[in-house]
Amino acid sequence: MKFLIETPTIGFVETSASDIDLIIEIENQFENNQFINPYTKERHLQVITNRDEMHLLIWNKIEKQIIGFIILGGLENLNLSLEFRRIIIQPKGKGFGKQSLRLIKNYCFQQLKFHRLWLDVFDDNQVAIKFYLSEKFTQEGQLRDVVKYGNSYRSLLIFSILEKEFYND
Ligand SMILES: CC(C)(COP(=O)(O)OP(=O)(O)OC[C@H]1O[C@@H](n2cnc3c(N)ncnc32)[C@H](O)[C@@H]1OP(=O)(O)O)[C@@H](O)C(=O)NCCC(=O)NCCS
Repeated sequence: MKFLIETPTIGFVETSASDIDLIIEIENQFENNQFINPYTKERHLQVITNRDEMHLLIWNKIEKQIIGFIILGGLENLNLSLEFRRIIIQPKGKGFGKQSLRLIKNYCFQQLKFHRLWLDVFDDNQVAIKFYLSEKFTQEGQLRDVVKYGNSYRSLLIFSILEKEFYND
């Protein structure tokens, strides 16, 4: 298999339309859907075809199986600011998330030569917040009550890492 980017254990390939049913199944599992806004099938398909967005499958190269996916946005952003829009890993807690995030940082800064990588995360997603902080992301701010969730609202935290912070690591 030809990977877009890889380490000895994981690799990214562009998601195909035939993978979307599996992606939706992963997204809708409780341990995942409480931390993201699941997309419709149409929206996922749009990401695959849209030039400004990228849909990537994460492969475990040793076990030869899919272990998650990533969505990026802003590939045509004139300010060279890339959005790390979504990551879901299964199985969790085995280091695959950290490896994937490091690959995305390399892709953003070394391959695309972008200036900024940013993301938002629900403020009650403690695992993901620790995950981003452990990879040198800085919290920029909070969007209070920005997402309507049933009868209540949830807040998002904005994190980013800049080119100079990546290279000074
Ligand atoms: C967040 C997520 C992508 C992390 O992937 P992962 O493969 O489980 O994470 P890793 O095993 O690589 O761990 C990376 C870091 O995350 C943090 N982390 C992982 N599991 C954790 C846990 N149970 N409790 C606290 N921190 C945890 C730690 O900082 C860890 O670094 P360390 O091992 O050096 O301490 C994964 O848990 C996930 O898919 N969550 C559901 C979807 C989600 O919240 N996505 C992010 C928002 S879009």
